Amino acid sequence: MEYKNILLTVKEKTAFVTINRPDKLNALNNATLDELKHCFNAIKNDNAVNVVIITGAGEKAFIAGADISELNKLNTVEGKIFSEKGQEVFNLIEKLGKPVIAVVNGFALGGGCELALACHIRIASEKAKFGQPEVNLGIIPGYGGTQRLTRLINSGRSSEMILTGDLIDSHEALRIGLVNKVFSSEEIMSKAIEMAEKISTKGQIAVRMALRAIVSCNDTSESEGQNLESSLFAICCGTEDFKEGTLAFLEKRKPNFKNE
Ligand code: COA
Repeated sequence: MEYKNILLTVKEKTAFVTINRPDKLNALNNATLDELKHCFNAIKNDNAVNVVIITGAGEKAFIAGADISELNKLNTVEGKIFSEKGQEVFNLIEKLGKPVIAVVNGFALGGGCELALACHIRIASEKAKFGQPEVNLGIIPGYGGTQRLTRLINSGRSSEMILTGDLIDSHEALRIGLVNKVFSSEEIMSKAIEMAEKISTKGQIAVRMALRAIVSCNDTSESEGQNLESSLFAICCGTEDFKEGTLAFLEKRKPNFKNE
């Protein structure tokens, strides 16, 4: 598939996905969602990729939401399809099986905030702004935001953001646990790459098993989750990486993981 709205590059085991519609503040139109779906499916099956970094092109925005010029034409039936399509793509990101880091470099509004929420780690630049302003348009978040935001920052804070439509800055986002870290615009990408490279040095079977257990929290009870955790732990115990990691510790040297 030829990408017209996103950029994909792979460097040193990290895939960089950039939403590339800066003149529309990287608003997610239908074509961009199709490209994201294709791109994340390709990344999922690409053994050369350990970690993904996703960001927005230009100086102003991560993603300023779903494309309102497409939104305003929807009827009831189309609205359901529209919402489910976005949910499907964002679920693909959340369940990719590889860590996805959102580098939120500007406005992350509506579907943009929801996409960041579907990622596993969110870091923000000083000038990032987060919000779910859908109520201003007479709609509600439709790409998983009511669920993921509420789980992440609690129902009181999520209700305030979704019901007022107010935007918050990156420091408030950090305070309420919406993002992990805040950096200046100049350093944010190098910090994200540093984090991605650090994750890449670990045994990738363990990284993926850990991620699977973490993501399962959304769909399972505590006891089902712990059952899954012990099964995934057991799988790790059967790997060469486990033997190497523990032996390296005992021999006081760095492990040489082979991801097997
Ligand atoms: N959908 C479609 N186009 C969008 C968009 C969106 N969600 N957000 C921004 N754009 C477009 C604008 O229409 C404008 O296009 P134009 O130059 O062809 O007129 C361009 O991006 C720049 O946006 P502009 O509004 O001029 O920038 P600004 O700095 O004055 O304001 C925002 C920035 C983010 C505050 C403002 O664009 C905004 O409120 N966007 C909508 C956010 C939203 O409601 N998202 C949720 C959608 S469900």
